[in-house]
Amino acid sequence: MSTLIKRAPSLPKGKSVILLNKDTTKFNTSLFDAKELKYLKTNYNEKQKVVGMNQFSRWVFLQFLDKKKTEKFKIWENARQAGNAYLSRINGLKLSEIYITGDVSKEEMLCFAEGMALGNYQFLKYKGNAKKSQNALKKIFIVDKNISSKDVEYLNISVEATCMARTWVNEPLSYLTATKFADEFKKASKKSGFKITVFNKAKIKALKMGGLLAVNLGSIDPPTFSIMEWKPKNAVNKKPIVLVGKGVVYDTGGLSLKPTANSMDFMKCDMGGGATVGGAMYAVAKAKLPVHLVGLVPATDNRPDGNAYAPGDVITMYSGKTVEVLNTDAEGRMIMADALHYAKKYKPELVMDFATLTGAAAAAIGPVGVVCMGTADEKVKDKLKESGGAVHERLAELPFWDEYGEMIKSDLADIKNLGGPYGGAITAGKFLEHFTDYPYMHFDIAGMAYLKGKDSYRGKNGTGVGVRLLFDYFRKLAKK
Ligand code: BES
Ligand code: ZN
Ligand code: ZN
Repeated sequence: MSTLIKRAPSLPKGKSVILLNKDTTKFNTSLFDAKELKYLKTNYNEKQKVVGMNQFSRWVFLQFLDKKKTEKFKIWENARQAGNAYLSRINGLKLSEIYITGDVSKEEMLCFAEGMALGNYQFLKYKGNAKKSQNALKKIFIVDKNISSKDVEYLNISVEATCMARTWVNEPLSYLTATKFADEFKKASKKSGFKITVFNKAKIKALKMGGLLAVNLGSIDPPTFSIMEWKPKNAVNKKPIVLVGKGVVYDTGGLSLKPTANSMDFMKCDMGGGATVGGAMYAVAKAKLPVHLVGLVPATDNRPDGNAYAPGDVITMYSGKTVEVLNTDAEGRMIMADALHYAKKYKPELVMDFATLTGAAAAAIGPVGVVCMGTADEKVKDKLKESGGAVHERLAELPFWDEYGEMIKSDLADIKNLGGPYGGAITAGKFLEHFTDYPYMHFDIAGMAYLKGKDSYRGKNGTGVGVRLLFDYFRKLAKK
């Protein structure tokens, strides 16, 4: 259960509160007595941005938020981080509820609550002392007349969907097989109202999804192909938008085995793109946004075994194209290609895929942002980048030049699944492009999907990256 954000009409007596201020001399003075005000005069300033005061039955915190005229997205991100920074204090004091109010913009207020709620996420399923380790904070109340119940409803949905995606990423393979992943989408469908169909191995075989089947050859567990759809009557788009997510529930590399240390140990995160898609479907359906959306998640683990696909193999993909496999660790593109081909049947207005596809993308920009590329129109790209900035899941667009496509030509088959010595993130994207015939955007989230150290409200481990980005994009699209 993620931390709940609610609206309150006023500050009740005796409840702990954080006052957000843009000016250290102007704040709601009625909350303090003369002695306290005197103390604040000397102790609350732009150097000492936070002051906490114990008023016996409650705590009152004063938080100064940057007044400097910086870019608005940066101001919002600072507010999220400030919200997160309170958690150790609030949970340390065992406060289960906190009120926030003050004299800042509506967006800063919402971002502050968002950072606090996202930062408060925990994954304790496998801890023996889960109850003891649980954070005290359960509810955040916003007292701000400029904030509507819709604002708060959408914020809760976005936080909840992000936390769902995080949990899916954090679940190890010992629980989250391809079948269980599809079951999780079924649960999300029940809770939010989108439709779901899951293809089993027999159906995947009947359809000849060669890429997904090839990767699955080394697994003892069957693959799944989940199809989620949200089709409201009042949709603003005539043709659907399709989301495709990589669902490699564990990537050992297959016969091209990864070294255990530092590269295989966190490969349970390789379904991060699928988690993004499931989370986004949940959010859009829960908010009943008027956007016709389809989500496709091909899922399997990638393992070496007696029957595993091998370097040198030629695979006939679902589209009929042949692929020379030169590295079984480049499995993501094999399963994504089949899903991208499947997407054609919707005659989509736009297809966006999310995948922890390449180490090259992670190496290029690290855990600081998301690599993207594609053939969608510039206006669409600009809107996506705008949403990326707004939610601080910033997009770095890489070139998608034809020369990179030359690098995956094969002597033996139509294309090969391995590029040249450089541009690894782009050649992977170019491989996927072969299976598209619609406006297309590819997001490589390898750098940001899973963090080995804590990064403010994004936390440690699964981040749920992409869910907030997509929800923001669709909210804006729904308004058109
Ligand atoms: N799942 C990995 C990519 C990855 C790397 C995800 C780091 C998250 C963090 C992917 O399947 C992979 O192994 N890619 C190879 C491709 C190469 C063999 C062409 C890579 O990036 O090394
Ligand atoms: Zn791999
Ligand atoms: Zn992978």
